[in-house]
Amino acid sequence: MTETSQFPKSFLFGGAIAANQAEGAWQEGGRGLSNIDMIPHGPDRMPVKLGYVSDPQLDAQHYYPSHSGIDFYHHYQEDLDMLADMGLEIFRTSISWSRLFPNGDESQPNPEGLAFYQNLFEACRQRKMKILVTLAHFDIPMGLVRDYGSWRNRQVIDFYLNFAETCFKAFGQLVDYWITFNEINIVLHSPFSGAGLTISENEYRDQVLFQAAHHMLLASSKAVKSFKNLCPQGQIGCMIAGGSFYPYSCNPDDVWKAMMDDRLNTFFVDVQVHGEYPFYMDNILKDKNVSLDITEEDRQTLKSSVDFVAFSYYSSRTSIADMSRVEINSGNVVKSAKNPYLQVSDWGWAIDPKGLRITINSLYEKYRKPLFIVENGLGAQDILEADKTVHDPYRIAYMEEHLKEVAKALEDNIPLIGYISWGILDLVSASTGEMSKRYGVIYVDKDDQGQGTLARYKKDSYYWYQKLITDRNLD
Ligand code: BG6
Repeated sequence: MTETSQFPKSFLFGGAIAANQAEGAWQEGGRGLSNIDMIPHGPDRMPVKLGYVSDPQLDAQHYYPSHSGIDFYHHYQEDLDMLADMGLEIFRTSISWSRLFPNGDESQPNPEGLAFYQNLFEACRQRKMKILVTLAHFDIPMGLVRDYGSWRNRQVIDFYLNFAETCFKAFGQLVDYWITFNEINIVLHSPFSGAGLTISENEYRDQVLFQAAHHMLLASSKAVKSFKNLCPQGQIGCMIAGGSFYPYSCNPDDVWKAMMDDRLNTFFVDVQVHGEYPFYMDNILKDKNVSLDITEEDRQTLKSSVDFVAFSYYSSRTSIADMSRVEINSGNVVKSAKNPYLQVSDWGWAIDPKGLRITINSLYEKYRKPLFIVENGLGAQDILEADKTVHDPYRIAYMEEHLKEVAKALEDNIPLIGYISWGILDLVSASTGEMSKRYGVIYVDKDDQGQGTLARYKKDSYYWYQKLITDRNLD
């Protein structure tokens, strides 16, 4: 078989941001407080983000990057102009739940919030871009966190459904693709940032996390069913933080560990594609001493199937039965042994283009649904030159190497809807809260302390991506 790096016209090239990391305007347009607003930059970030601080508060000593983000709320017209000039075919963003439902439990949405997204999506349409919307991208109103305990509480399912249905009714005609939750599996790894969960010392962490995950899966399934009624022409998918787990060695213990680690990620997809927990989950939960509150009615509720499987891909992971024997990859929320065959980014994330083809093949083999790569990219330090150019050959190389593997996956006969580059405009990092961890092909002038003009500048990678979208060929 000859492998070429060609992309058919139907394959969508996109760019992604998310409300929580880009919009800012945290107190404008009637928006309520969200979990992301409580997560500071700096050394106190991790305990809050991981759910160890029981009732996070705002104070004057900390800087909270989400409050201003990259001020996409006020800049979106000029940002979309730059993206349209680049030829972007699909724009992915999320809807800030607390912009529509400031406390989360209101029955009627905030009209100003609806108007903002209506205008935003119309602006995309006017520029001939398709739209992918994530309903909840690491985002839940603080009202639901404080008054209900977030996703540990079943009542939150109905509030989410009301939010989802409001969005389907308001924007169903404008939006092409929907995702119910960004990286739903991250609830197990970063509970507060991922799902608004704080866990006290006297609670059993795994019990809280798996029960919350169950509620999110019920909510997703209800939203999918409702979507099929409200928007029968549309497409709705699930999403995980992807990346296959490799065994560290051919020791069968490592191979088994890799399989189990993979299952802890992909069971979320199994439920959302097959409408039930996979056969191995009972034993995993038993081993973890988790007793899931799952009713017969829940099992019926779960019976739905998404139209496509979306995933983010930054790295493969490496599993070893005895983690104490090896160096651990720093920086990434999903723990992994350091893979001696791979280079890492400035933030310690393993760089593995071939792993993308492996991940695509393994997901398709399991689920036989069209796949959508909705995040990929390199977080790196960039230098804004005096003449306002940014030379980022490392980012171009990263994207090129990954896209070559995507092209091979197309040749593997896998239906791929498209490739969406993460952080198409520089934005606040979800893990570190930094601006200096830049992913964009567009530079945003802002630093880790929130200082900067917010001016946008095209990087070299902008022109490279523009050419690729036109040529549809990497050779
Ligand atoms: C994904 C998230 O986990 O990775 C994004 O969906 C996030 O929200 C992206 O920004 C990159 O991670 P980070 O931590 O470098 O921003």
